Formats: sequence, C-alpha cells, structure tokens
Amino acid sequence: MIIRDATQEDISKIVEVHRNAFQGFFLTTLGRGFLTRLYEGFLFKNDGILRVAIADGEVIGFSAGTTTPETFFAELRRDKWLSFLRAAIPRLMLNPAVVIKKLYHALFYKGDPIESLESAALLSSIAVDPSCTGKSIGKVLLEDYELQVSQRSKLEYVYLITDKFGNERVVNFYKKLQYIQDSEFCQSGNRVMLRFIKKII
Ligand SMILES: CC(C)(COP(=O)(O)OP(=O)(O)OC[C@H]1O[C@@H](n2cnc3c(N)ncnc32)[C@H](O)[C@@H]1OP(=O)(O)O)[C@@H](O)C(=O)NCCC(=O)NCCS
Repeated sequence: MIIRDATQEDISKIVEVHRNAFQGFFLTTLGRGFLTRLYEGFLFKNDGILRVAIADGEVIGFSAGTTTPETFFAELRRDKWLSFLRAAIPRLMLNPAVVIKKLYHALFYKGDPIESLESAALLSSIAVDPSCTGKSIGKVLLEDYELQVSQRSKLEYVYLITDKFGNERVVNFYKKLQYIQDSEFCQSGNRVMLRFIKKII
C-alpha cells in the first residue's frame, strides 16, 4: 500500500469510499455530486490536504483536512456555494425544510476552532473502505495526515470532531492513536459531538 496526494482522477473513488464508509450520514445523502464538489475543495484550495491510500491501483482509504480551519470553509463557501447548492437540489426537493437546515450547517461549518489552541489543523474526514478495515490502514492514514500537517505548517496540534453516541469504534480508534478528548458540544440541536486533539510536535 502507498499513501500519496490525491489527484482529480482519484475524486470519484474517494466519493465511493466516503459513500461506503459513511452510510446514512447527511452529507452522504446529498449525493455523489455534492461529495465531489466537497472533496475537490480539499484538493484544489490552498491549505487543503487530501491524501489517498492505494492498494492494487485502487483507492481504499483517504484523509481530508486543512491547516487553516478558521478560514478554509468560509472561503470554500464563498467560492463554491452555488455549485454546492446545485449539487444538493435533488435531495433538497425531497425534504426542503430538513435539508436546508442541515445544508446550512454543512456549508457554514467552520471547523469549530479550539479557543485555547490557536496552532491546530483540522482533520475533516478519514475513511477506509469497509472491505479493508481492521488492517491498520486507518492508523497509517492518520499518522500520514499528522506528518503532512507538520511538513506543510508549523502547527502543533491536529484536532477532529466526531459523534459521541453510537460511535465507539471510531472513538476507540482515535484514543488508541493518542487523541485526547478536549471538549463536548451539541451540533444541530441534539447531536452530541466530541472534539479530540493530539500534539504532533
Ligand atoms: C475509523 C476508521 C478510519 C479506522 O480505520 P481502520 O483501518 O479500520 O483502523 P485500523 O485497523 O488502522 O486501527 C487502528 C488502531 O485502532 C484500533 N481499533 C480499531 N477499532 C477498534 C475498536 N473497535 N476498539 C478498540 N480499538 C480499535 C486498532 O486496534 C488499531 O490499533 P493496532 O494497530 O495497535 O491494533 C474506519 O473504520 C472507517 O473508515 N470508519 C468509517 C468512517 C468513519 O467513521 N471515520 C471517522 C470519522 S471522520
């Protein structure tokens, strides 16, 4: 297996891994077009990081994030809001009230910067195709992401946000890789989220 920067040709495979790994999640329900725009954002925007794990020529996992979480999503929204909206239209038609509320949050999400930590990169998303989990691919992807952050910036921390409930496997995965729970907060009203951080230098 190798891990490398993603290219435009990898985007459709990244989207498939996302759809397989995050089944039922709101962003997944917005469809391939929306996910394509989202991951292209990490690929093409300054300060985005998009890495892929490749085995036998196939994308089997990826990591995505940014070294400037406080501005990255605001700029992405400013530059791409229309294409995000267009991509979400089919889903929007099905349940406008719910989708608009959640889409608003998705597009206006700034990565919840940590007040007490200024020097932190955000890991937005990490996934391994379900057919390949439990083989240390996630671990290697996460360690690679931390290395990328330290090579591309002077940031001292990586942080991420994940669900508190129904998510033991993922929480254990981060704990095992030395991430420490920093805080807990509610998102979209009643979804309890945990913020984990790790000092990388
Ligand atoms: C979370 C995810 C990326 C982990 O990838 P993975 O390749 O299955 O994980 P790994 O095999 O690399 O496991 C890494 C370490 O975590 C540990 N771990 C994994 N699952 C665990 C569990 N349920 N309980 C305790 N430890 C666990 C492993 O023991 C391993 O440690 P080791 O190498 O010392 O044995 C993957 O399961 C996934 O894509 N999940 C769906 C998407 C998701 O929720 N992503 C995270 C939110 S953004």
